[in-house]
Amino acid sequence: MTKVGLIGLGYWGPNLARVLNQTTRCEFTACCDLDPQRLKKTLRQYPGLKGFESVEDLLSSDIDAVVVATPISTHFDVARRALHSGKHVFVEKPLADSSPRARELTEIAQARDRRLMTGHTFVYSPPVVKVKELIDSGALGDLQYLSFSRVNLGLYRKDVDVVWDLAVHDISILLYWLDESPISAGSFGRSCVQSFKRDVAYLWFQFPGGTIASCEVSWLSPQKMRRTCVVGSKRMVVYDDTDPSEKIKIYDRGVIVHQPENFGEFQLTYRTGDMVAPNLANTEPLLIEIEHFLDCIATGETPRTDGRFGAKVVSAIEMAEKFDWQREDQLVAA
Ligand SMILES: NC(=O)c1ccc[n+]([C@@H]2O[C@H](COP(=O)([O-])OP(=O)(O)OC[C@H]3O[C@@H](n4cnc5c(N)ncnc54)[C@H](O)[C@@H]3O)[C@@H](O)[C@H]2O)c1
Repeated sequence: MTKVGLIGLGYWGPNLARVLNQTTRCEFTACCDLDPQRLKKTLRQYPGLKGFESVEDLLSSDIDAVVVATPISTHFDVARRALHSGKHVFVEKPLADSSPRARELTEIAQARDRRLMTGHTFVYSPPVVKVKELIDSGALGDLQYLSFSRVNLGLYRKDVDVVWDLAVHDISILLYWLDESPISAGSFGRSCVQSFKRDVAYLWFQFPGGTIASCEVSWLSPQKMRRTCVVGSKRMVVYDDTDPSEKIKIYDRGVIVHQPENFGEFQLTYRTGDMVAPNLANTEPLLIEIEHFLDCIATGETPRTDGRFGAKVVSAIEMAEKFDWQREDQLVAA
């Protein structure tokens, strides 16, 4: 049985502690946080755990794998130390704060034959997997465009901006669905509340097959929205993660172009067929994700969101940030 230690017990760590305690596929034996109060709170909740205030001490203990839920700027250092000490490593999203660092982690994991997985939780959620099946089966036809909206009020993060916090989710879903990396990308955003930290941003991507995608992310919006629209040549899908019962709606809708009878005379009609909302499993994505990590350790299989996938997500963010429409040297005069 794999013995697992959890590093980072802040906002997100307790959710990982809950599923590590819930699953029967590992022994959740240890936890670590620099903050003694947070450590004490977790030890009170799970009295059988060993607690550590330093990563080094945790790594020297009797564990086979670690789950890292520390701030993004620390992912590289913590994950590298864990891999070098021979542990399998799960790192919360994004894998690292730069693509060279993400690739370095991937190389260390490969050289040491350890499983490295990035916590792109949405890639394990039943609605996202269902849309992937629809895309791969050809049910949607050619993918024409996708638009993502992930907005609400807060949670303002101290260490990163809204792109590195929220857009990471949409980009992971996008790369999983399309199974290719963008050939061009761009972005613009604004720091409305805190200077130098964007709390609203718009990103867009173009893929080799012609598909285009946009992502709108914001910490400054009155309503919570988690909505994705996938437009294919045969069908269209709306994925609304806030809908409690019908997260996915498949629309048999589109435009039919009729052959022109006279030169240059195009005729368009609109197909407005049925809408179907498939029944989806209600399993918690975080549990599916952690059990996938544990299964990969047991079987030697490569995780769906391995280090290479995590590095591709980071590269896509960097590509979008590099072409920032607000930078004066990149502005096209009106
Ligand atoms: N998958 C998801 O849906 C999801 C959701 C929220 C956050 N996250 C990710 O989880 C990670 C943590 O986010 P958070 O909101 O919990 O952050 P947080 O700041 O609330 O908590 C981080 C914790 O790590 C501890 N810590 C920092 N450096 C440490 C070190 N070197 N050793 C041990 N402990 C250390 C801090 O004391 C703190 O308790 C981030 O990577 C974030 O992107 C993922």
